[in-house]
Amino acid sequence: MERLPGFRDFYPEPLPTRDLWSSDARRHLFETWRRVAGRYGFREYDGPPLEPLELFTTKSGSEIVGQLYNFKDKGDREVALRPEMTPTLARMAAAHERNYRKPIKWFAIPQLFRYERQQKGRLREHFQFNADIIGESSPEADAELIALLIDSLRALGLTAEDFRIRLSSREAWQHFYASAHADPTREYEFFQVVDKLERETPEHTDAKLRALGLSLERVQEVIAASRPTDHLQRILDNLAARGLTDFVALDYRVIRGLAYYTGTVFEAFDRKGEFRAIAGGGRYDNLIKLLSGGKSDMPALGFGMGDVVLTELLNKRGLLSETAVGPMVYCLIEEESWRPASLGLVQKLRDAGLACEFALTPMKSDKQFKRAQELGVRFTIRLEGAPDRVKLRDLKERRDETLEAGQAIEVIQRATR
Ligand code: HAM
Repeated sequence: MERLPGFRDFYPEPLPTRDLWSSDARRHLFETWRRVAGRYGFREYDGPPLEPLELFTTKSGSEIVGQLYNFKDKGDREVALRPEMTPTLARMAAAHERNYRKPIKWFAIPQLFRYERQQKGRLREHFQFNADIIGESSPEADAELIALLIDSLRALGLTAEDFRIRLSSREAWQHFYASAHADPTREYEFFQVVDKLERETPEHTDAKLRALGLSLERVQEVIAASRPTDHLQRILDNLAARGLTDFVALDYRVIRGLAYYTGTVFEAFDRKGEFRAIAGGGRYDNLIKLLSGGKSDMPALGFGMGDVVLTELLNKRGLLSETAVGPMVYCLIEEESWRPASLGLVQKLRDAGLACEFALTPMKSDKQFKRAQELGVRFTIRLEGAPDRVKLRDLKERRDETLEAGQAIEVIQRATR
């Protein structure tokens, strides 16, 4: 039985073949995301992977609606696997906003599903680090969120040489569109043309813009002028005060494909331009009001960072080579008659919080030692005749010590810290 196209199996390291996905690398990403989000005071939330279809057809825009995994459930409900987290978050925040102090700073690591054409950087399922700030409209919130995005990439070993946040404003484009006196009902169509600017030929883009009463030349003028709005300038100043200027650049080519964005928008790209967007996000100040039928009205902004492009980039830079976390200590059982006492020792080590491995069934001593080396343990431990005496070998420092079990545990714990 084969798995479905665009879906992944995750295997522990070492990987049998290079094209497989590593569960150790995935854990490394998730742990890093959680750690950095925690540093910024973001709290973790989650929602259901299956939602009413309507949640996504209301305001995400035609692009994502065309990629939905949707069906009728056995209760005749129209449902969809979540293609993104933002509508779920908007629903959750609207339902209980009174119980939380503003601004609400929340993050999640959902698995998302989009029926896309499978290609480099695009699969039919991916994990996405989502971080959002709700209830604060000032550019200081935008800067805080972008700083979190930058720091979560830096914590994975990437530098200003590797990536850049391209900062833009949908509001600026809204003003441009309004001032051109173009058809107001076709605004989203215009945003989508700008969104695809870098992927389409100039002739094709120009034809589409002319159909809207605009031209590529006029659009290129806005991009080339590259003047920050007041809101964007305050974000840039705030990031400069944090010493993060090298990681951002104003770039009006970014406008974002999703329909609900209202103000600041941004995307993270690798600087060599080899990969698709690592992350994308922006302000969506009307979505909560819309999805809650007017019951709640809060400004919000956030970003989503997918694991697929990020893993490709980190692999390319050699930043995922040591993500496997094996056991710390291997208990050698040299005499089968010592097995019951050895099991007691293994239990003691594990009770002390240490990751410990041993041979489940009889095995020659040299084979056990070889297995310990393969696992990359730092220590081997074995009983040393007298009750509670053990021989501890530090494979890194190449040192043997005969100790009491409790002392050996302390030595290992010190080395783990
Ligand atoms: P998005 O731009 O659709 O935004 O996705 C964010 C990131 O998820 C992309 O930059 C990409 O890295 C990854 N991604 C998206 N689709 C796929 C796919 N089919 N395969 C692999 N990776 C993918 C959103 O989803 C917004 N809801 C983000 C957001 C949160 N905005 C505000 N808050």
